[in-house]
Amino acid sequence: MNAIPLKPSRLEVMNFVGREIEQDIQTYLNPVDVNWQASELLPLTSDDTFVEDLKEIQEVAQNHSYDLMAVLVADTITEEALPTYETWLAGMTGVNQGQDNIWMKWLRSWTAEENRHGDVLNRYLYLCGRINMREFEASTQYLIVDGFDNGAGSDPYRNFVYTSFQEMATNISHRRVATLVKKDGNNMLSKLCGMVAADEARHAKAYKSFVSRIFEIDPNEMMLAFEDMMRKKILMPAQCLKELGGELNTFSNFSIAAQRLGVYTSMDYVDLLRNLVTDWKLESIRNLQEDGEKARDFLMGLPDRMARIAERAKPNDQQFKFSWIRA
Ligand SMILES: [Fe+2]
Ligand SMILES: [Fe+2]
Repeated sequence: MNAIPLKPSRLEVMNFVGREIEQDIQTYLNPVDVNWQASELLPLTSDDTFVEDLKEIQEVAQNHSYDLMAVLVADTITEEALPTYETWLAGMTGVNQGQDNIWMKWLRSWTAEENRHGDVLNRYLYLCGRINMREFEASTQYLIVDGFDNGAGSDPYRNFVYTSFQEMATNISHRRVATLVKKDGNNMLSKLCGMVAADEARHAKAYKSFVSRIFEIDPNEMMLAFEDMMRKKILMPAQCLKELGGELNTFSNFSIAAQRLGVYTSMDYVDLLRNLVTDWKLESIRNLQEDGEKARDFLMGLPDRMARIAERAKPNDQQFKFSWIRA
């Protein structure tokens, strides 16, 4: 197929865009041989200075607030649930296990980069001495066991809206943690979170570019998919976060801590949406049908409506206990 039909199916669009992005994969992902690895960012047990390094890590970790440690753990668990995300993205129309399927190649390469995030954060948590590792590990296992419905089904258009949003959200939260821990004197952790944040920014660019291209080929369907995802709201994967031993409100407690620290707030959600509306040039998209025009109107007005709600949100000073934190 060289040209795209007038009313293409999802599969036709995915095959078409798949051929186009083959080159872009190199732009949006780093080659393995030059990519950073966790071992470069944290001391190794084989280092001569390991004992002193460990002592220093544990001393500096005492500077971080309880909220900040909780957010760091929840961010790590979210990264560690990567198998869930790969599984659902592998189920998208247009993705198959064939070696020459470009989308599978993208997905494997993206997963391989993302896998380093959980590794490096997990290793830091292990070394820092403030974490109840079994509780944290059990929460990770729960999140993978429970899976997560992002509301996109097997539709690549909806999934790419989700991943565009999610990669930007993780970029913000890792970047903000990097800034906060630096203020506490933790340069090592700050650098590490900054490296993770930079990966997320690159991945966001990739997913946003896929959507931009789909908007050119199949504008009406792409607009409807975007509208549908925003009506459903973009749920964080950590929505289903659990702790051992019961019905704790882990996610809402974590969100309150993240909001209080300014790591990820309801206004950030609005800003991300505004960014997508601008970047995907919604205003100038042509060839929409009536339902697509309505969807665009809804989406263009949504950031302001949500901002008014976010502005009214009251700060919550309630302190919560998380089983993951030792002290
Ligand atoms: Fe990540
Ligand atoms: Fe990511």
